[in-house]
Amino acid sequence: MRAPVTDLPLVFEQANVIAGGVTILDHVSLTLSAGPPTVLIGPNGAGKTTLLRVAMGLTPLSSGRITWNGQERSGSGSDSASKARRAIVFQRPAMLRRSAAANIDYALAGVSAPRAQRIDELLALVGLSGLGSRPARRLSGGEQQRLALARALARDPAILFLDEPTASLDPAATKAIEDIVRAVAARGVKVVMSTHDLGQAKRLAGDVVLLHRGRLAEHGPTPAFFDTPRSDEARQFIAGELLV
Ligand SMILES: Nc1ncnc2c1ncn2[C@@H]1O[C@H](COP(=O)(O)OP(=O)(O)OP(=O)(O)O)[C@@H](O)[C@H]1O
Ligand SMILES: [Mg+2]
Repeated sequence: MRAPVTDLPLVFEQANVIAGGVTILDHVSLTLSAGPPTVLIGPNGAGKTTLLRVAMGLTPLSSGRITWNGQERSGSGSDSASKARRAIVFQRPAMLRRSAAANIDYALAGVSAPRAQRIDELLALVGLSGLGSRPARRLSGGEQQRLALARALARDPAILFLDEPTASLDPAATKAIEDIVRAVAARGVKVVMSTHDLGQAKRLAGDVVLLHRGRLAEHGPTPAFFDTPRSDEARQFIAGELLV
């Protein structure tokens, strides 16, 4: 992987998303800087997926703005070069009905470098060496999630958004994903991921963002977030109390 040239910091300023008359993101102001992973937590419906989609340029803001290293970007057209440096893995990634290797090859479309070698590198990075010829849809859930990561990494993103990458995976499969996240972050890729697993947030995050009902309830460095939370929401959420 080449060294990332990032568009960071990614800054949300009073970001609002309203859909169907419902406020989904409510004046979110947040700065995501280069460095260790940022982990988004919060109850179901808090707006985590929406925030990732907005950052990726897939969901438009109703008001407010987002800047990348000080610049506003439309997320389309002339912006395509920088857009290519971001990738997202959804919670239930859809695999093409072809081999694992062909799924990665598809993501590499237009890349002129020798693709077979790149595919092998990516399969190795996610621990799927030897499974390249297996139909992707016959891989286990954990293997599919790792293949989705390989696919997302195919074009050398500088920023990788992961939406609950370990939901419904067992502890071993979860550890495999966490190891990949660490390896990717160690290469300088900025990872922004959501999770419902507070242990995972502690293990991976440099900073933690708590969303609640579309609002940013708290954002801080991981130790401070868990040891000395400032908001009632964070205190309750960490204590395992229901946030409604
Ligand atoms: N296009 C839409 N139109 C109307 N409501 C929407 C739309 N997209 C999302 N929502 C609502 O916005 C809220 C936030 O959804 P979002 O998926 O961002 O939450 P989340 O924090 O990712 O939740 P989960 O933990 O369940 O994945 C939910 O109540 C959801 O139903
Ligand atoms: Mg979600």
